[in-house]
Amino acid sequence: MLELKGLCASYGEAKVLHAVSLEVKAGEVVALLGRNGMGKTSLVRTVMGLGAPLKTQGEIFMNGVSLEGMPAFKRSQERIGYVPQGRRLFASLSVWEHLSVLDQGKQGAWTIDQVFDTFPRLKERINHRGNQLSGGERQMLAIGRSLMIGPKVLLMDEPTEGLDPVMVELVEGVLTKLKAAGLGILLVEQNLYSALAAADRVCILEAGCLVWGGLPSELINNEEILQKYLGVH
Ligand SMILES: Nc1ncnc2c1ncn2[C@@H]1O[C@H](COP(=O)(O)OP(=O)(O)O)[C@@H](O)[C@H]1O
Ligand SMILES: [Mg+2]
Repeated sequence: MLELKGLCASYGEAKVLHAVSLEVKAGEVVALLGRNGMGKTSLVRTVMGLGAPLKTQGEIFMNGVSLEGMPAFKRSQERIGYVPQGRRLFASLSVWEHLSVLDQGKQGAWTIDQVFDTFPRLKERINHRGNQLSGGERQMLAIGRSLMIGPKVLLMDEPTEGLDPVMVELVEGVLTKLKAAGLGILLVEQNLYSALAAADRVCILEAGCLVWGGLPSELINNEEILQKYLGVH
């Protein structure tokens, strides 16, 4: 469904992605792992077309449609959802306002009630502003917001970062539900075990190159790769 072919990207002169090819199919969770600074966020930003880094080579397809030259909002309309690292909410907007600006009533899109069914906690916090929410509530809102466009593919950049174990479990549960509903998910994770539990396939990014791909069960038994690329001892 989402297909990257030989993707290269740069921040000015500095190359950050080197010929990355990968695919996320419907109902599949692909975990993208790698240490800090290896290019995971840059990859996701390049797919979303956020301006920096800039794609220099390669192609991105969503359901066979090339995203070449498409601005970020158009990519959302192709039903690519995005949960940015660090949530990126508006401090002064309420939960309701975050969601209602995206409530377009389009076919296939989510309604605010559907988001509240998935995250009942957000309904209880409906009038709270971004800066009045706990870390977990912020992440629920960031995920809820990404669902409003009715994504078929969801790019999640470290959704469990900074969350307590109860919230991590909640996010994992939502991910499982979305997958069961047929969404394809590209999951960037620092938490190896969280990623392995959720993923159908894993790929590892090292200095902007995809250096390993395989099944979670293959990774967990591969001490050399775990140590070399993920710093697991
Ligand atoms: N806005 C930017 N301008 C220049 N370089 C950047 C920018 N953002 C990230 N980088 C660099 O790109 C590389 C990859 O970063 P990033 O994609 O954030 O990695 P990750 O998400 O895997 O931690 C790092 O070397 C980082 O310093
Ligand atoms: Mg990152």
